[in-house]
Amino acid sequence: MAEADATSSSPKDFRPEVPQRCETFFLKGSNELDWGMKNRLSRIFDPASGRTVMLAVDHGYFQGPTTGLERVDLDIVPLLPWADTLMCTRGILRTSIPPTYRGGIVLRASGGPSILARDLSHEEIALSMEEAVRLDAAAVAVQVFIGGEGERKSVHNMTRLVDEGNRVGIATLAVTAVGRELTRDARYMRLATRICAELGATYVKTYYVEDGFDTVAAACPVPLVIAGGKKLPEADALRMAHRAVQDGAAGVDMGRNIFQSEDPVAMIQAVRRVVHDGTSPEEAHELFRDLARPGAPAGVR
Ligand code: 5RP
Repeated sequence: MAEADATSSSPKDFRPEVPQRCETFFLKGSNELDWGMKNRLSRIFDPASGRTVMLAVDHGYFQGPTTGLERVDLDIVPLLPWADTLMCTRGILRTSIPPTYRGGIVLRASGGPSILARDLSHEEIALSMEEAVRLDAAAVAVQVFIGGEGERKSVHNMTRLVDEGNRVGIATLAVTAVGRELTRDARYMRLATRICAELGATYVKTYYVEDGFDTVAAACPVPLVIAGGKKLPEADALRMAHRAVQDGAAGVDMGRNIFQSEDPVAMIQAVRRVVHDGTSPEEAHELFRDLARPGAPAGVR
């Protein structure tokens, strides 16, 4: 039976004169990905702005309970309404994050050495793709140490996760980790981010550099997000986020500059303004100060 309702009297409406829509996906370098991967990327990046505020709280995977992350349940969960995405370990996700959280989850998928190790670059894959699927991750995150002792192994970790992630439609975030002995400049960032993209990373996390970040973004054919790095005064962190998105970053993956802020709830809202609305850092800082006033309302998303 070709069409079960062939005898129905109501006419069908095929509108043959209207061509089927063929939309380009909003993220650079991502148009040829499969539907599942694009859907997951839309849980990380807001399709309206094309950008993301990822809240990074995965530091415990090598640092333990670092300042601001002593109690994720008490101090991080209240920030979730303003985080497009949460980057965390599976341990924190299972124990401390409500399963009602609707943003994307980016799961830390590499690890091994702790902060006590002589060299942090010798990581292994620390999460199976089956576990990432079970936890409904939008992406897995892996450290890549270009120029570090563990360079070769870390690149291989990334390519394995890319292959496994592509099989099930989960994105891979390559996190470019800069060893102490390396110079954090545009030349290094162009090299590291481009290698990650060439070898298949779905998107890449890097550090902002004052001089030439626009060339880093231009040379990387997939979206870039920037890490916040060490805690800065709020005004400086907002300025850095603003410059990064103006220079071509698709958002931030910020940790300490949010959760170590004197008012993390106010800070994440100010960061959102800069990233999603292009608000100037000065105006965003004013918002921060307003929201941080004792007794100020928590704000609306
Ligand atoms: C750990 C990470 C962190 O997620 C990253 O450093 C982001 O946090 P911060 O803004 O505090 O630098 O990838 O290696």
